[in-house]
Amino acid sequence: MQSEANFRISRISAHLNPSNVEMGENSMLEQAKCRAKGGAPGFKVAILGAAGGIGQPLAMLMKMNPLVSVLHLYDVVNAPGVTADISHMDTGAVVRGFLGQPQLENALAGMDLVVIPAGVPRKPGMTRDDLFKINAGIVRTLCQGIAKCCPNAIVNLISNPVNSTVPIAAEVFKKAGTYDPKRLLGVTMLDVVRANTFVAEVLGLDPREVSVPVVGGHAGVTILPLLSQVKPPCSFTSEETEYLTKRIQDGGTEVVQAKAGAGSATLSMAYAAVKFADACLRGLRGDANIVECAFVASQVTELPFFATRVRLGRTGAEEIFQLGPMNEYERAGLVEAKKELIGSIEKGVSFISK
Ligand SMILES: NC(=O)c1ccc[n+]([C@@H]2O[C@H](COP(=O)([O-])OP(=O)(O)OC[C@H]3O[C@@H](n4cnc5c(N)ncnc54)[C@H](O)[C@@H]3O)[C@@H](O)[C@H]2O)c1
Repeated sequence: MQSEANFRISRISAHLNPSNVEMGENSMLEQAKCRAKGGAPGFKVAILGAAGGIGQPLAMLMKMNPLVSVLHLYDVVNAPGVTADISHMDTGAVVRGFLGQPQLENALAGMDLVVIPAGVPRKPGMTRDDLFKINAGIVRTLCQGIAKCCPNAIVNLISNPVNSTVPIAAEVFKKAGTYDPKRLLGVTMLDVVRANTFVAEVLGLDPREVSVPVVGGHAGVTILPLLSQVKPPCSFTSEETEYLTKRIQDGGTEVVQAKAGAGSATLSMAYAAVKFADACLRGLRGDANIVECAFVASQVTELPFFATRVRLGRTGAEEIFQLGPMNEYERAGLVEAKKELIGSIEKGVSFISK
């Protein structure tokens, strides 16, 4: 009786002081004793960079996902606050917070899916490549942790420049002997989300009815929307094609400029990240015909990595689809995309191998 009362008090004080953040062995509230349970059996998901502009709404949306039973929120700052806040949502997933490098391994142990929006965002005048030096080091550290603690997890890499950070992650995993190309996915979903929205505007359709494959990479001209393959089938004038292609390629810059120094896309990115993570989880569950675009190790072109439509299954990107028939405009775009992409991929590889 007495111990039950003490236990309840310790639970309450753990919430107040300050949250259910991972507090180590001396924690009054040891995880094993915590009575909170996920509503249904589900997947364990970690978000690395969970206190950031993308990380916070991403954490909120993942807490609402019924496929998630455990949600680990890791950041080098503010993880306790975000965790306390999100943990009050009355949805099934159990939320735990982890603050700083010493807690990275606990954050990652046993995870099925790791989503990485950690890093600095683009400011006006910065290209995605300008971010390279800072974000490359962050991604390396986080991927070393994944290789050690959850080598079989599916990794969704959001940190820019994706065209380089995915090759960096691959090299880290190769060095650790854990590399499985099917499990490493660069998130290009925001390009698809934007393409669906902008194409729907031009066609006067509901964006939910529109599906635009976007291939190549995730920066400027490497973003190649295949407007000839839009579903439902439709055609565009050359002006419309030019306008849509440019707007989709420059979508990130449009937001960076509008935010005028306050960061890059966060809310639409969190939406896109959850849409993609949910597809990965449905694939893990064994659902059939889960197809999304992602930047993955690929033999579709001569480049070692390329974004195309992939089929997501129990082991990650189980099938990588070919580019399909392209028109002349798209073929010319492909040449440009590959020219730029090769340099970004090499930059990522040599960051680790040098
Ligand atoms: N793939 C895409 O489509 C896409 C779209 C938009 C932004 N991004 C990229 O996502 C990243 C995050 O953007 P944001 O707007 O959320 O930035 P932000 O600065 O608001 O948040 C980044 C978070 O990462 C954390 N962080 C920094 N170093 C860390 C480390 N070593 N370990 C864990 N966390 C760490 C920071 O503390 C911060 O909370 C940027 O690289 C940005 O360019 C990608």
